[in-house]
Amino acid sequence: MPLAQPDSFEHRPNRAEDLLVRTRRVRSFSLQLIEPLSAEDCAAQSMPDASPAKWHLAHTTWFFETFVLLPHSTGYRAYNEAFGRLFNSYYEALGARHPRPRRGLLTRPGLDEVLIYRAHVDRGLEDWLAGPAPAAAALDLLELGLHHERQHQELLLTDIKHLLSLNPLKPAYRASGTHPVVIAGHTHQTYSAGPTGRCDIGHGGADFGFDNEAPRHSRWLQPYALATRPVNNAEFRAFVEDGGYSRAELWLSDGWSTVQEQAWCRPCYWDESLQAEFTLGGMQAIDPTAPVCHVSYYEADAYARWSGARLPTEEEWEAVAAGHPLAGHFVESGLQQPRAAAGDGMRALFGDVWEWTGSAYLPYPGFAPAAGAVGEYNGKFMANQMVLRGGSCLSHSDHIRPTYRNFFYPDARWQMSGIRLARGV
Ligand SMILES: [Fe+2]
Repeated sequence: MPLAQPDSFEHRPNRAEDLLVRTRRVRSFSLQLIEPLSAEDCAAQSMPDASPAKWHLAHTTWFFETFVLLPHSTGYRAYNEAFGRLFNSYYEALGARHPRPRRGLLTRPGLDEVLIYRAHVDRGLEDWLAGPAPAAAALDLLELGLHHERQHQELLLTDIKHLLSLNPLKPAYRASGTHPVVIAGHTHQTYSAGPTGRCDIGHGGADFGFDNEAPRHSRWLQPYALATRPVNNAEFRAFVEDGGYSRAELWLSDGWSTVQEQAWCRPCYWDESLQAEFTLGGMQAIDPTAPVCHVSYYEADAYARWSGARLPTEEEWEAVAAGHPLAGHFVESGLQQPRAAAGDGMRALFGDVWEWTGSAYLPYPGFAPAAGAVGEYNGKFMANQMVLRGGSCLSHSDHIRPTYRNFFYPDARWQMSGIRLARGV
């Protein structure tokens, strides 16, 4: 849920108009993302963790219908009440739902009908926002829905990438200017001391934040230094060539078990040569200076141990990031792969790759999920997952902020996840 105080937006008379513009922008971006895809591409599911593009399009629509229109728009009628069973993701309070691993079996409704469903809900949102001023709490839910759709846009891309990677022809999602441009002179890893002592972290402003980012609170930071850029492909290749995947002493026990079970020997999309990788633009030469991506927490942790460093805690990461502008390669850049950041000093904190932290995904002191079904959004996942920070080149910049906490299981590596090192000083 948004963290705005209940009356924090009351003095903003144009909030509904602002949200209408943003709603059109966010909803149309989802349709842009499927332009390179066929109906068959949109229907397939490559693994239980991933969802078909068609399901993402329908589920984000269901979210607006369920949490915004049905409870708050008196004239709205559900497009098809049976869709709740198909497109509810994990909200137990809303009843029975189709099992996640079988979303790829939902050949009906077809893509055409899902697009009609989207248009029906879009019209409902337009009519609602054009009517009598909606309550601030209802607009908060609309804003939550927009950020929710931003999350699913990134998942749509990472899920499509995984799907296409399993095709022997290694087709491109979108052939674009994704060929890496190697930026010379940025291969030397340096560290910079971060803020220490009492630091306030978490979201506390009137602008949007998910409930898991609050409350803002104090942490005490011992002296530490953060690497000035993410680990790059050349550095990670050195880890692979040094036998990193065959040295048990570098790995957490669960990580080592996963290496054995999954036969991991390199990042998710690298080929055996360690010189090429599958990207949304098809197979491409690995850019040695670009941030390594598609590594799990276990791989990030093992790499850090091999290099004599560690992963930053999420409070260390945020204390540093809070002092930096939100600049980086985001999805609007058209890049489909991370790219080395030019310049000196601390860079690429935002965009390019999500950065694994060494912090377990736990509630902040005083965390309180929202009442009702929407309270299931974040809080119930606070076990056995690790926090990632900063967004990626597949995140939209209007969705990322220094306090944003992403989270995945430690063996997940189909997201654009990379590594930034830290160490004590
Ligand atoms: Fe969702």
